[in-house]
Amino acid sequence: MGGREATMVLMDENGKRCDGRTVDEPRRIMIKAGGLKNADGSAYIEFGDNKILVGVFGPRDVHPKHMSNTDTGILRVRYHMEPFSVGERKNPAPSRREIEISKVIKEALEPAVMLDKFPRTAVDVFIEVLQADGGTRCAALTAASVALADAGIPMRDMVAAIAAGKVADTVILDVNNEEDQAGQADMPIGYMPNLEKITLLQLDGVLTPEEYKKCVQVGVDGCKLVYELQKKALNDKYFGNSGD
Ligand code: CDP
Repeated sequence: MGGREATMVLMDENGKRCDGRTVDEPRRIMIKAGGLKNADGSAYIEFGDNKILVGVFGPRDVHPKHMSNTDTGILRVRYHMEPFSVGERKNPAPSRREIEISKVIKEALEPAVMLDKFPRTAVDVFIEVLQADGGTRCAALTAASVALADAGIPMRDMVAAIAAGKVADTVILDVNNEEDQAGQADMPIGYMPNLEKITLLQLDGVLTPEEYKKCVQVGVDGCKLVYELQKKALNDKYFGNSGD
C-alpha cells in the first residue's frame, strides 16, 4: 500500500479496473471441499490467481501437553507460503508476515469454532499458499472455514472473507495484487453471515469515516457472496456427485 507504483492506471475512464472488473465485482472464486485423504477435513480455493490448499487435523491430543487446556480445546493455525508462490522466490523459513497472518486467521476462526466441546484437545489448521496474488489471508480464511466444516468440527457459523479497498479515490471490492501494491487502502474483512458478526477487520491505508463505512458495507456484502460458494462447495461434496 502507499503508491509504490503510483503511475499505474488502476481505474480507466469507464470505471474499469486494471484487470477489467467493475468496482464491486469479485474475482473468479472456486472452492472445493475435501481432496486430502490423510486430513480429517480439507478444502482448496482459487480466488482470482490465488491458489490455496487447507488441511484440518483433529480434535486430537495436544503435544506438548502443557499447551492443552482442561476447559476447552485449542485452535492452531499455520499459514505458509510456498517459495514458488510469488514472483520473487520466498525464503521457506516462516517470515514475520506468515506468523502474523497465522495469528490473524486463528483469531478470526475462533468465534466460529465450538472448541469448548473438546477440552484438552487441539484442532490444527495447515494452510499452504501455492500461488499468491493479493488477498491470500481472506482466501485462506474462507477455505479454512470450509475445511473445518468438512472435518465435522461443530461450528456456530462459517467465516467468509474478502477485502474491500480504495483505488483512484473509489471504494472497490476484492483487492488484487496490483491494487494492493499501488492503491490507497486495503481492508480485509471476515464475517459470519448467519450470526451477522465480523471476526476479522484490518486496514492498511487511509480512509475518511464515510469511506470506512462504505468499505465495511461493500466487504460484508462481498462476504455474503463468498458464503454462498462455501455452502455450495460443501453441498457438492456431501449431496452432489463430486465423488470424494
Ligand atoms: O495476501 P494478503 O493480501 O492477505 O497479504 P499482504 O501481506 O497484503 O500481501 C499482498 C500480496 O503480496 C500477496 O498476496 C502476494 O501476492 C504478495 N507477496 C509477495 O509477492 N511476496 C511476499 N513475500 C509476500 C507477499
